[in-house]
Amino acid sequence: MIMIGLKVPKNRANDVRKVLLKKSIMEIDYKIKQEDNFVIIPLKNNLNNDQLESLDLSLENLVDCEFEYQKREPKSLKDYLKKKIDPQNLDEIKGSFDIIGDVVILEIPEDLESDKFKIGKAALDFTKRKTVFRKGGKVKGIKRIRELEHLAGSEISETLHREYGARFLMDVKKVYFSPRLATERHRILGMVKDGETIIDMFAGVGPLSILIALSKDVKIYSIDINPDAYNYLKKNMVINKVEDKIIPVLGDASDYLKLANILADRIIMNLPGLAYKYLDIAVDSLKEGGIIHYYEFSSDFDVALDRIKKAAHPRKFKVINKRKVRSKSPGKWHLGLDVKIL
Ligand SMILES: C[S@@+](CC[C@H](N)C(=O)[O-])C[C@H]1O[C@@H](n2cnc3c(N)ncnc32)[C@H](O)[C@@H]1O
Repeated sequence: MIMIGLKVPKNRANDVRKVLLKKSIMEIDYKIKQEDNFVIIPLKNNLNNDQLESLDLSLENLVDCEFEYQKREPKSLKDYLKKKIDPQNLDEIKGSFDIIGDVVILEIPEDLESDKFKIGKAALDFTKRKTVFRKGGKVKGIKRIRELEHLAGSEISETLHREYGARFLMDVKKVYFSPRLATERHRILGMVKDGETIIDMFAGVGPLSILIALSKDVKIYSIDINPDAYNYLKKNMVINKVEDKIIPVLGDASDYLKLANILADRIIMNLPGLAYKYLDIAVDSLKEGGIIHYYEFSSDFDVALDRIKKAAHPRKFKVINKRKVRSKSPGKWHLGLDVKIL
């Protein structure tokens, strides 16, 4: 098809292309043409003098040219939805969504209520998974689960999720699981040494316990208060063949540890909103020089450090690493601290 194009020296092509893309002037459905020391970039519309000058080009760089059509696969759900819903509403849809096994979990704002099934079906087709749910509010309660509204595909909420060679079976409606913590889990795994005794105080279906047990010679006490999480943890131990390394425990972590008399090399406290309440018992259950992986929702590290200091007293502590694991809400972070208690 003959269209207007911008003829640019090859050594400037990338910079000019980025500017045109940013300003949505480039026609992305057609291929850039190569010509000796130049490229010709297809344009949606003509550029005026000011625009050309800002690119250090002139009217002579505008040419009519035959461009070849290129079929583009959509790169994001938003891209995929472009022709399916009102473009004005597109900006409101969060581009990101979670995929847990065959399940897609989307966030759709209230004002797109009337488009929700269309968006759900598009997400199903785009991701090629089996089912789509919409987040129905915040993660809440002691079990840390959220309501999910079915939008598209089969209504099955039990699924098998794969992560770094491990497999986790779970019902996404009954247990907490976040695929967004995969990198954090992998980071912790990298710190574990053979021979350690570990306590995973709020283990869920066991993603971190299992990941560690798969590659390290360790003994892990994996505790969770949610019976569904505990049952999936036991199934996941079998699926991943790590029954000999994990001791699954159903109940309150504090109640259990007060009676169990365990001294661990490492304690994982992934219950960011409430973990501080369990710091005392964690310190009491930790060997000299043992490490606590502590999590908290906060805007900065000060509160967490103060709580750790109080719980560790009279023992000394050393912060090995502190990081923002991910953003929780504007100004608030899911913080992670690795602390050695001496
Ligand atoms: C944020 S989730 C983390 C689960 C898991 N570590 C993961 O990353 O997928 C916290 C878990 O702690 C469990 N929980 C909450 N209070 C607890 C308690 N007092 N004792 C043991 N488990 C608890 C919840 O059932 C939930 O599965």
